[in-house]
Amino acid sequence: MKRIKIDKLQQSDTPLDRVLIKGWVRTRRDSKGFLFVEVNDGSCLKNMQVVIDQSLNNYGDIKKLTTGSAVAIKGKQVTSQGGGQIWEILADEVKIISLAPESYPLQKKRHGDEFLRTIAHLRPRTNKYGAIFRIRSELSYAVHCFFRERGFSCLHTPIVTGLDCEGAGELFRVTTIDPDNPPKKDGKTDYSKDFFGTISNLTVSGQLSAEMFALALGDVYTFGPTFRAENSNTRRHAAEFWMVEPEMAFCDLRGNMDLAEEMIKYLTVYTMETCREDLDLFAKFVDKKLLLTLENIASSDFIRIPYREAVEILGKSGKKFEYDICFGKDLQSEHERFLTEQYFKKPAIIFDYPKNIKPFYMRLNEDNETVGAMDVIVPGIGEIIGGSQREERLEVLKARMKEMGLSREAYWWYLDSRIFGTVPHSGFGLGFERLLMVLTGITNIRDVIPFPRTPGSIEF
Ligand code: 4AD
Ligand code: MG
Repeated sequence: MKRIKIDKLQQSDTPLDRVLIKGWVRTRRDSKGFLFVEVNDGSCLKNMQVVIDQSLNNYGDIKKLTTGSAVAIKGKQVTSQGGGQIWEILADEVKIISLAPESYPLQKKRHGDEFLRTIAHLRPRTNKYGAIFRIRSELSYAVHCFFRERGFSCLHTPIVTGLDCEGAGELFRVTTIDPDNPPKKDGKTDYSKDFFGTISNLTVSGQLSAEMFALALGDVYTFGPTFRAENSNTRRHAAEFWMVEPEMAFCDLRGNMDLAEEMIKYLTVYTMETCREDLDLFAKFVDKKLLLTLENIASSDFIRIPYREAVEILGKSGKKFEYDICFGKDLQSEHERFLTEQYFKKPAIIFDYPKNIKPFYMRLNEDNETVGAMDVIVPGIGEIIGGSQREERLEVLKARMKEMGLSREAYWWYLDSRIFGTVPHSGFGLGFERLLMVLTGITNIRDVIPFPRTPGSIEF
């Protein structure tokens, strides 16, 4: 007999005469002559209630079923007598696949997020984390739908690279050199003897590769893991996170902003329409205003404002910030959050940042002082997207690289793209976990990624 998933059963209009479900026991309640077992199989938030009569020949064993045990149950789908569910199953066969001991840590009571992080291998079996990771899966699918509907090609960019796209030096080294016995040249480790014949690291962004393909396929996007050895223990930074990076040929900064806004709205609406049951859980237990926030994101025009004006607003705000802000300094999360949460009360796109705080590849503006950069900031998080129009003019790019001390030899192929058929092009990177935080109201990045990697923590 073929197993049916609980979400399909919950949605059915007419009951099935005989079904087989498989899952894990959430609770068992004993009554006179029969008992109830709530089974969850991960396909949806809801459990399936199973009624088990004492006439079953292994009733004695079933009475010992514990939370966390795995079962296979055959029976008849019937209209539920009790409240809380439409359907239940009258079991005629209960197979105990494995019995969880009483030490199973997820007993009935609700656990705190911090405790659940210490059992990251089990937390997806709770209602809350099951919901998060179902939403994560749906959202990932929606990203591909969004780009596919717009004619973008999906591009798999390398994970191991020799470059530091962002120039922030937050790199995880990839090497096969024995750290206790490295090959030496002139007293230093000789990386020409390393696996790739040079220093290599995990990628911080797929952008530079995506640019090459945008200049061939037109519109591309890459969606993959990125790595940053940033030693900041904040609730919105992870050492390994996923980024969605579109790159578009023949597109300027305005077109870039349009796509970013359209994408965030699309993904928000998609989640509201597709994951309603799971979202309602967050609206109930995590953030009471969640649905209002999401409707606000989906329906409002994002503010677009130059960095210079954003800094002026911050200066005039009369607010005392931990970090001072003036033209030339990067916005900190407290500044971003003030702007989007208190001042604009909706998402905003800040553009034209000073060149001295941005990477080499951003297009220099006519003022010679700012670049065509843009950050999208949203309530609750701050920066969720960083992007720019790229410098497509060979001579300007070379000058910028020289200014920033980058080797032209290492980037010869990147420079080639500015020699052979160069065109204006733009792109951005969306922090996938940060978007998930916005959509669920979860305030810590560690709780929206299956096994978080943060400084000092890589247990699972
Ligand atoms: O602003 P960032 O550094 O931009 C880039 O890497 C560009 N190369 C992207 C591009 O233009 N193709 O990072 C993009 C986004 C940020 O806005 C943020 O949402 C997320 O990636 N991000 C992180 N998310 C979690 N943990 C971290 N340590 C993050 N660093 C950046
Ligand atoms: Mg950024």
